[in-house]
Amino acid sequence: MDTRTPANLLNSGWTPDSWRDCPIRQVPSYPDEAKLASMESRLSRFPPLVFAGEARRLKEALARAAEGKAFVLQGGDCAESFGDFTANVIRDTFRVLLQMAVVLTFGGSVPVVKLGRMAGQFAKPRSSDTETVGGLTLPSYRGDIINGPDFSAEARIPDPARMEFGYFQSAGTLNLLRAFASGGYADLHEVHRWNLDFVERSPLVDRYRDLSARIEETLAFMAACGLTSASAAQIRETDFYTSHEALLLPYEQALTRLDSTSGDFYACSAHFLWIGDRTRQLDGAHVEFLRGVKNPIGMKVGPSSEPDDLLRLIDRLDPENEPGRLTLIARMGVDKVGDKLPALLRAVKREGRNVVWLCDPMHGNTISIGEQKIKTRRFDSIIGELRAFFDAHAAEGTIAGGTHVEMTGQDVTECVGGARGLSETDLGARYETFCDPRLNAEQSLELAFLIAEELKIRRARTYP
Ligand code: PEP
Ligand code: CO
Repeated sequence: MDTRTPANLLNSGWTPDSWRDCPIRQVPSYPDEAKLASMESRLSRFPPLVFAGEARRLKEALARAAEGKAFVLQGGDCAESFGDFTANVIRDTFRVLLQMAVVLTFGGSVPVVKLGRMAGQFAKPRSSDTETVGGLTLPSYRGDIINGPDFSAEARIPDPARMEFGYFQSAGTLNLLRAFASGGYADLHEVHRWNLDFVERSPLVDRYRDLSARIEETLAFMAACGLTSASAAQIRETDFYTSHEALLLPYEQALTRLDSTSGDFYACSAHFLWIGDRTRQLDGAHVEFLRGVKNPIGMKVGPSSEPDDLLRLIDRLDPENEPGRLTLIARMGVDKVGDKLPALLRAVKREGRNVVWLCDPMHGNTISIGEQKIKTRRFDSIIGELRAFFDAHAAEGTIAGGTHVEMTGQDVTECVGGARGLSETDLGARYETFCDPRLNAEQSLELAFLIAEELKIRRARTYP
């Protein structure tokens, strides 16, 4: 017997606040409820940060990725921070994402959908509600939009005023991203010039020189054909979208708007929102909230996901099987991906569900090292999970739609390995993350080159 609820029933009863009647995990407990309510009402009058039409455009691009006609690159900080809100930080992350996208576009011969974990990635799920240091136990840090990272009782009190900072930081970030994307900074020739720098500095220079030279040749060929920055917007500009985990539901609800063009509700804090691995309970508040907004949405799929549960979640989040609506972000860990992913791919394929599959090779590969239990990730494990993800798709005849990474444009030392052989003893040098360890600029680009090689091989096999 099929126990899944029909789509029309699931669609009923949704309102922007229907999540409030559902069990909820990972929520802060605000000591001052009146202050929270007044902030929610204030935010609900603010202008939306994104426009529904943009979210629809992203959905169309994701629909192409589901068919293998585009590749998704989603990346950015694990947690953005109020303290790091500078033009340089935004510019450098944007630049590395664009550099990665150029390499991937060339390697895969497909357009790359660029999706920043930016302009709103502030709220963090935690494995423990409390943190103990030197005998003192305090509430955990939950991201700058909720409380402060300092280890003091005062900083750790959830404060609704932080939502307003979060909103304005998102607006400021988005404004700069939009300016970069259309104002000339994203010009393909510039982006490639930056890649040349990387290639020359990389210890793997021989390996990358060839790909890089071919990109250069192609740009010169296009220019000779009259396709230059001046003549073609596609060379001068790019589409860049924003995303974050929809964890802090009072904030997300306050920024939800009815789109007058379509009559649908959109979450207007970002173009794309996802549900984390810890909050994807079928009857939980986070699934309830996201099922009713029309944005393209994502869901993390960790090793505890079983095929039947996954299918039920897909039914609830995408009852109409709408192309581009749902992106599943697999984050299994290099040791588990080979065991866990194939059955999920098979079940989703068998049911004919139109989803985009992304690989998040970061969150299943976090390890703690040393006495201080410093969180890090090995570059080799990250690459290993990505390769296994591609292999599983090849074996099942499904489409590897893209990747989701935690990275920064800064020269941090948070993940070990990569061409420069960053070691565990190097971690102390520039370990700056407020949450999970990120790939630095060079490691990110190296990852892009490796994925590009992978895409090229797969393409050659598909279209010999
Ligand atoms: C994250 O993306 O930062 C995160 C917490 O991921 P997950 O939900 O997959 O653990
Ligand atoms: Co993270």
